[in-house]
Amino acid sequence: MMSRVLVVAPVGQDGPLICSLLTDNGIRCVVSASSAAARSELPAGAGAVILAEEALNPAEIAAWAAEIATQPSWSDLPVIVLTVRGAVDRENRKKLQQMLPLGNLMLLERPVRPDTFISTVRAALRARLRQCQMRDYMVERQKAEEALRKSEKLAVTGRLAASISHEINNPLASVTNLLYLISRSSSLEESRQYSEIAARELARVSEIVTQTLRFYRESSKPRAVVVTQIVNSALVLYQARLTAASIVVEREFEDCRPIVAVGGELRQLILNLIANAVDAIGIGGKLKIRVADTHQYSNGMRAGIRLTIADSGSGIEAEVRKTLFEPFVTTKPDTGTGLGLWVSSEIVRKHNGTIQVKSRAKGPCRGTVFSIFLPSSSIGHTTNVSVQELVREPVSSHASA
Ligand SMILES: Nc1ncnc2c1ncn2[C@@H]1O[C@H](COP(=O)(O)OP(=O)(O)OP(=O)(O)O)[C@@H](O)[C@H]1O
Ligand SMILES: [Mg+2]
Repeated sequence: MMSRVLVVAPVGQDGPLICSLLTDNGIRCVVSASSAAARSELPAGAGAVILAEEALNPAEIAAWAAEIATQPSWSDLPVIVLTVRGAVDRENRKKLQQMLPLGNLMLLERPVRPDTFISTVRAALRARLRQCQMRDYMVERQKAEEALRKSEKLAVTGRLAASISHEINNPLASVTNLLYLISRSSSLEESRQYSEIAARELARVSEIVTQTLRFYRESSKPRAVVVTQIVNSALVLYQARLTAASIVVEREFEDCRPIVAVGGELRQLILNLIANAVDAIGIGGKLKIRVADTHQYSNGMRAGIRLTIADSGSGIEAEVRKTLFEPFVTTKPDTGTGLGLWVSSEIVRKHNGTIQVKSRAKGPCRGTVFSIFLPSSSIGHTTNVSVQELVREPVSSHASA
């Protein structure tokens, strides 16, 4: 319907003549006896409108202008007015001025040569076709962005579920153990003590769930954050465990500029990596955390920070390394959910960064290094990601034995 031409020529044989000329040249047209009738055709679609000047009095011009003003942003309906030959005088200039609200206006003075007329109509239809292509492109783009937003919402839900399961796993395991101990205990006093500890553990579970839900509601917006501060706050949380396991922590913080990121998510990422390092070290070892300003050479010199978490732990076997960032991969059957690194890599991906791992599981220099690059401004952050921004570097797992 967008390729048809609406013709309004109320006087004499103009209408039928114009129509047959257009039809002979393969252009579809609808001839209307009045402007109002032609306007009623507009909602069904039109490639151009041809108006004989005599059909246009000020009221009609206003009615067309009102119709044209309601067009969507992609649309600029071509209007061809067939004028009556006249002198270049004030009267004609005034008439032209009155027609300006018709928008995408072309004037053709009668008598028009058929070639000139057809080529003008063709040019108008061609321009209209471009507008329609633009509209289709915009619709497609909107659909793609909508789909992306939906998939990101699902991913957020997945991460939320994963992080809750990850965090409540340990307290729930303790509750199971305590219930077992209670069932085996013959002393009421002892059972009471166990049940008190179990109640405390369950209170922790409930706090973790409430906090995590609140965190997802409150801190889902990217802000300027200082990564070294987040590392410090994560280390405070682990201080007791680190001291108990005689793990020496070495911090190497350069003067780092803030980056735009979701602070709570970075904290979770860092906590997951520290937890893994602590597990891998066992008793006695070294945990080294480095934060430095950097540029990513492989990616147009993007500015950002590099966070390195290195441990002198057991190292990761080549077999495990292959699927390290996939969900439910764990070598800790009793305590692990295998979600820590998957959630972490998702967080890095969402921030448009990269995560790499190097590990040695044999020999005297065993240990693991996780290296994370986070761009200064994570423009690809999916809270407002656009289709172009989909082209991003994948999370990679680089490993050396
Ligand atoms: N720093 C590390 N040193 C040695 N092995 C590691 C290290 N980090 C991860 N791994 C290995 O990768 C596996 C997956 O880690 P991930 O954090 O995803 O799950 P998990 O630690 O097993 O479980 P959870 O995080 O739920 O406690 C671990 O089971 C462990 O074998
Ligand atoms: Mg883990």
